[in-house]
Amino acid sequence: MSSISYLNGTFLPTHEARVSPLDRGFIFGDGIYEVIPVYGGKLFRLDEHLKRLDDNLVAVKIKQPLTHKEWKAVLNEIVLRNQPAHGDEQSIYLQVTRGVAERGHGFPDSHIEPTLFIMSSALKPLAASIAEQGVAAITHDDIRWRNCHIKSTSLLGNVLLRQQAYDEDAVEAILIRDGEVTEGAASNLFALIDDVLITPPKGPLLLPGITRDLVLELAQQHKIPSCEAFITPQQLINAKEIWLTSSTKEILPVTMLDGAAVGNGKPGDVWQQMRQHYQAYKKQLRGQS
Ligand SMILES: Cc1ncc(COP(=O)(O)O)c(C=O)c1O
Repeated sequence: MSSISYLNGTFLPTHEARVSPLDRGFIFGDGIYEVIPVYGGKLFRLDEHLKRLDDNLVAVKIKQPLTHKEWKAVLNEIVLRNQPAHGDEQSIYLQVTRGVAERGHGFPDSHIEPTLFIMSSALKPLAASIAEQGVAAITHDDIRWRNCHIKSTSLLGNVLLRQQAYDEDAVEAILIRDGEVTEGAASNLFALIDDVLITPPKGPLLLPGITRDLVLELAQQHKIPSCEAFITPQQLINAKEIWLTSSTKEILPVTMLDGAAVGNGKPGDVWQQMRQHYQAYKKQLRGQS
């Protein structure tokens, strides 16, 4: 069963979608993207994702091609059309680039329309071993640019960092810039330090993750002490628990950092609690009409 995508106003099988090689997304990585999980056929935190998309398009001066109402209609349609191929649990990827123009670094002189592409893939359930064993991560210098709050399609730094983690039998690289821990190559970071759940504050050094915000909300709701503060590499090494959050991986417990055990080397108690709250939130979304 072929998956269905949306390209500039048309729904079509993904393998038939074609973009010009002069698209600035292809030539320069001149675009913005979002990844939205779908649970029980429902788009997860859609308003928050659309708000972040608005902020990012404004930041890079790309015209917002659709209203929120139009986005919601087309995204829900993509979910429906992909139900035969992927079922009710999907991962939706959307990308808006500046459009097609003759190559030149500056914005094109003549008016161009943004290119809009949306695709769906099956959302894979997380491996059961994660809850039993957790995952390994490495630390690495943050080699990316200084506008990491923008969800840009220019991801070469992130790609190289993630591959470095894979090459070292880890799942993620936790990044350090100017003596501070920022986030993962494709995830946000939480650490349990002196029984307080800490995540670095929003700013240009990290992506304002939708999952990060929800985890903070759930912590407040369930009276788990939490705050936004900078974390040093030494504090990270001594943390009782370390978590990585992202839309498709949810909350991963890191039990091995640079080859050494985190806490007692098992997913921690606070992670177990948060996982339950997160699953309850997803269940509620699935049940919504
Ligand atoms: C660099 C980076 N930080 C954080 C995140 C987590 O963001 P979200 O929770 O919105 O998926 C991502 C997601 O891909 C990311 O690429």
